[in-house]
Amino acid sequence: MSTKETFLQRMNRHLAPTMAKDFPNLPVVGEEGGYYLGLDGKKYLDFTSGIAVTNVGHRHPKVVEAIKAAADRLLHGPMGVIVYESALKLAEELTRILPDGLDCFFFGNSGAEAVEGAIKLAKHATGRPCIVSFTGGFHGRSLGALSVSTSKSRYRNHLHAVSGVYPIPYAAPRECPPGQSVAEWCVAELERNFSRLFRHQVSPEEVACVILEPVLGEGGYVVPPRQWLVRLREICDRHDILLVFDEVQTGFGRTGEWFAAQTFGVTPDIMAIAKGIASGLPLSATAASRELMQKWTPGAHATTFGGNPIACEAALATIRVIEEENLLSNCRQMGAYAREKLEQLRKRHRRIGDVRTVGLMIGIEIVDPKTGDPDGETLMRILRRCADYGVLFYLCGNQGEVIRMIPPLTVTRDQIDEGLDVFERVLRELDSPGHPAP
Ligand SMILES: Cc1ncc(COP(=O)(O)O)c(C=O)c1O
Repeated sequence: MSTKETFLQRMNRHLAPTMAKDFPNLPVVGEEGGYYLGLDGKKYLDFTSGIAVTNVGHRHPKVVEAIKAAADRLLHGPMGVIVYESALKLAEELTRILPDGLDCFFFGNSGAEAVEGAIKLAKHATGRPCIVSFTGGFHGRSLGALSVSTSKSRYRNHLHAVSGVYPIPYAAPRECPPGQSVAEWCVAELERNFSRLFRHQVSPEEVACVILEPVLGEGGYVVPPRQWLVRLREICDRHDILLVFDEVQTGFGRTGEWFAAQTFGVTPDIMAIAKGIASGLPLSATAASRELMQKWTPGAHATTFGGNPIACEAALATIRVIEEENLLSNCRQMGAYAREKLEQLRKRHRRIGDVRTVGLMIGIEIVDPKTGDPDGETLMRILRRCADYGVLFYLCGNQGEVIRMIPPLTVTRDQIDEGLDVFERVLRELDSPGHPAP
């Protein structure tokens, strides 16, 4: 009989430690709606959405039905050797839900692949060698995507793969000096950073693209002012530099619109999409205009598995479910509800620092109540204890100091209450002298 211990022993024996050591390593036998079903027979409220993947909930019946029906017809492409309806239909549907102008797609399997595609496309289309990225950004673990990722230096140890990447600071609303407008200060900093970069390190004519997450994800859930993204678009236009949004995490409804590009009203030239696109099946897309894609000559990029027919059907079902169940609207409403509750919690608990939200992308900073410094150690104690009580949160931030709360877009008020009640219970336990520390 499998127990938690035998699961973990087998995992430690056969899975690479770099794959298997994460939080919470919960042995699971199933998943349903907003919950994981644990090997221990307990239901776990999942506020991680499998790290922003199961936006329509785990194993949504309509997605499962579409997958089963697709498996009865066609299991494998490869696109190019054959052509099939689901990939074409998905391209048409993505064109409909994306901002105008993004109407041509390269399908891959993962977020990192979508980013690799974006970088290669930008370099091909412009003939320029360099890239500007943002400190704290995370874009994946393959060597190209890693080269533009600076959320944690340990991800880059021994690698430092692609040269010609210039990271500059991301918007830092919290660092705005008192009395100044946050948006104006962030925009002025952006201009200063680009001006310094172009004067000292790389000429704009050498830069193929600027790549960023429109909301910083792994780096700590930092929400930039809209004007900062607007100005970034202008700077790119000024120098004929392509703007790439990595919407791997922000996409598919997470910020309350289909994509953060729509939430902020800023359209990139290239977009990387993955995670929530197919509700758990491996699928990604690099999106751009047809005009731009035509500069990526045939054979310059290809894939065996990308745009798998079953994954494409899962994506089509995911789009239908988001529309039929008004999940973008639910995301905005439940996001606002959770934010309000967290603001109340913050008044009662000094361990909660900043609360940063957009839609159901919610970051809760944990700080030392005496110094106000980020406190990743306590955060881990909180997450473990919440998991013991049946609620799963994840983490982010350079020092692991931000709780990532990313419930499915189907989440209800009751579920938010359930999750945040457990969170508060754990905060209380931490501060009650008689209680064993979690
Ligand atoms: C913004 C962003 N880009 C890219 C990736 C990489 O995606 P994948 O793990 O599917 O390669 C991630 C994964 O967390 C991400 O959050």
